[in-house]
Amino acid sequence: MAEFKIAVAEGDGIGPEIVKEGIKVLDEIADRFNHKFDYTNVYIGGCAIDKFKDPLPQDSIDKVLASDALFFGSVGGPKWENLPHEKKPEAGLLRIRKALGAFANLRPVKVFSELIDSSTMKPEVISGIDIMVVRELTGGIYFGKPRGVFNLPNGEKKGVNTMEYSTHEIKRIVKLAFDIAIKRNKKVTSVDKANILDVSQLWRDIVEDTAKDYPEVEYNHLYVDNAAMQLVRNPKQFDVIVAGNIFGDILSDEASMLTGSIGMLPSASIGGKVGMFEPIHGSAPDIAGQGIANPLAQIESAAMMLKYGLNLNEEAATVEKAIEKVLKDGYRTPDIMSKGKKQVCTREMGDLVAKAVNEV
Ligand code: IPM
Ligand code: MG
Repeated sequence: MAEFKIAVAEGDGIGPEIVKEGIKVLDEIADRFNHKFDYTNVYIGGCAIDKFKDPLPQDSIDKVLASDALFFGSVGGPKWENLPHEKKPEAGLLRIRKALGAFANLRPVKVFSELIDSSTMKPEVISGIDIMVVRELTGGIYFGKPRGVFNLPNGEKKGVNTMEYSTHEIKRIVKLAFDIAIKRNKKVTSVDKANILDVSQLWRDIVEDTAKDYPEVEYNHLYVDNAAMQLVRNPKQFDVIVAGNIFGDILSDEASMLTGSIGMLPSASIGGKVGMFEPIHGSAPDIAGQGIANPLAQIESAAMMLKYGLNLNEEAATVEKAIEKVLKDGYRTPDIMSKGKKQVCTREMGDLVAKAVNEV
């Protein structure tokens, strides 16, 4: 029997509802494979602001660092929108990523054949796509300095953010992307804006340099605007996409719609001592508490945690198969509902996947 310590941050909005379903599935995995998952709740985001006046209390960092993985819901909501930047729930999310040194955010974009009709895209464009977006997560314009809103002598204000990357930051994420590509379809597309940005030229140079160590991997460069267009024109051309923090953020939201719903995309943030695993969608405050949120991205994130965080590959594959089975059996949350299928609520979807863990 193996025992694992899992820190759990439910967060805000739909976070608590969907994390609950993720844990339901993890418990079923523990039962079936004879593991013990020991959960510790931590506060990050709006809930932490309400309780401790800080979106990331030190106690939460300590607890996460003492765990094997962080299972994360989502943060943010209108309640905290008017707080200063560094006090917002999102600041807690950025700080925990940084505190963990989780510089690589893996966002797999896979189309379930069962859900082809839920996408707004044509079936022949999206069927069979399997993309891994590798997003840099602890640098770039999200963290660069100077930043802020400054007063100018003429009475105007000036808002400033800085996109910056140093050699080692680029090198490690690009290398990881090539390492991942080797185990997949051996193609890397690097995204930048090297026709305009100096930081992107450095990025591109380092990709060129790194690629020399991977002769078996095919690679190309795309400007981010072109990449956004290519993703909807012909997404099948992509295998691994590597991008800086903000380009990866934007492109992964775009890519999620290929799969039918942003409610389907999980992520793993790795590279540091402890990994964190969270859906790519936000806290969706507009639908929180109604029982209609899709928990599948959270459950998929549990699968990524098993695989990348705890090294439990068979267990991860079992969760994925369970999700496939439930979709195949025709169950859908409202966001992926289509004609002739059976609509279920958040809790029912969790129950179904948990049950399926023992049937696949
Ligand atoms: C994401 C989100 C976050 C980000 C927000 C909530 C700060 O959009 O994880 O993609 O921009 O990184
Ligand atoms: Mg985002």
